[in-house]
Amino acid sequence: MNLLSIWELDKIKIGDYVGLASEVKKNPGKYAHTLEGKTLAMVFEKASTRTRVSFEAGMTQLGGHAIYFDFTTSQLSRGETMHDTAKTLGRYVNIIMARLYKHTDLLEIAKHAGVPVINALTDEEHPCQALSDLETMAEKGKLKAGNRFAFVGDCGFNMANSLMLACAKAGMEVTLVCPKGYQPNQKYLHEAKKYGKVEVCSDPAQGVGGADVVYTDTWISMGLEDEKAERTKAFMPFQVNEELLSHAKKDCIVMHCLPAHRGLEITNEVIDGKQSVVFDQAENRLHMQKAIMLKLMEKI
Ligand code: CP
Ligand code: NVA
Repeated sequence: MNLLSIWELDKIKIGDYVGLASEVKKNPGKYAHTLEGKTLAMVFEKASTRTRVSFEAGMTQLGGHAIYFDFTTSQLSRGETMHDTAKTLGRYVNIIMARLYKHTDLLEIAKHAGVPVINALTDEEHPCQALSDLETMAEKGKLKAGNRFAFVGDCGFNMANSLMLACAKAGMEVTLVCPKGYQPNQKYLHEAKKYGKVEVCSDPAQGVGGADVVYTDTWISMGLEDEKAERTKAFMPFQVNEELLSHAKKDCIVMHCLPAHRGLEITNEVIDGKQSVVFDQAENRLHMQKAIMLKLMEKI
């Protein structure tokens, strides 16, 4: 069993992950030895703070061990294929997580590893983040059918893809708020609309109107650095600041997967303000990923 995308999960499986993460958070001692003797390989082609540390700490807390596998110092950087790398890793470790540019590379690892594989972010999805965000929304009393989720900013990349599906499948109403030239991924939009009300809006104030949750992410995702100048200009009117937030519900929460670019997609006042739950989100990555590893290794 793998966790490669939110796309492949139905509402029940999503609910199972959220329930299990909350149980793991409440009773960490219960699982302290569950993965004793097991090894996780953490394959990184891109930078990371939260994902790397939360997976490694999570594996330690479950009694197992994690190995950081850096793309640039491995034979992958000298042309060894994903196929051969996956087959080799699968002979040494019990579970693999990978953060890669191309989703197709992740699928290649999953096809050949012979052990469970977790998507730790590709250009297409970031399911670990989206699932832990659902857990955070549940804790804050916002994960309710009919509640309004507004994603503001770059609606065409991994976070927006995973979150539009996760929130729609969980029964929320989703608004994707983005400039006209930067539309959501149409394949994901089409899929998300099968599960509930999903709208696209290019007016920031209207888009966050009445929202229970306002979520943003960087405008310049890893790999898009060359587009920094034009993206900053196009997205500036979509900054999550106090003025924009005044259009959402008074008790709305503000979310960001981090890392944040303060003064760009979000202001200091908002990210450090009382509606912000960003560090609860960061913490919940740990609990959710422990739940994911336990589930994929069939310990629960
Ligand atoms: N949100 C997230 O995945 O953070 P890192 O890039 O630091 O892992
Ligand atoms: N969309 C961002 C998410 C970082 C966690 C990126 O891909 O860089």
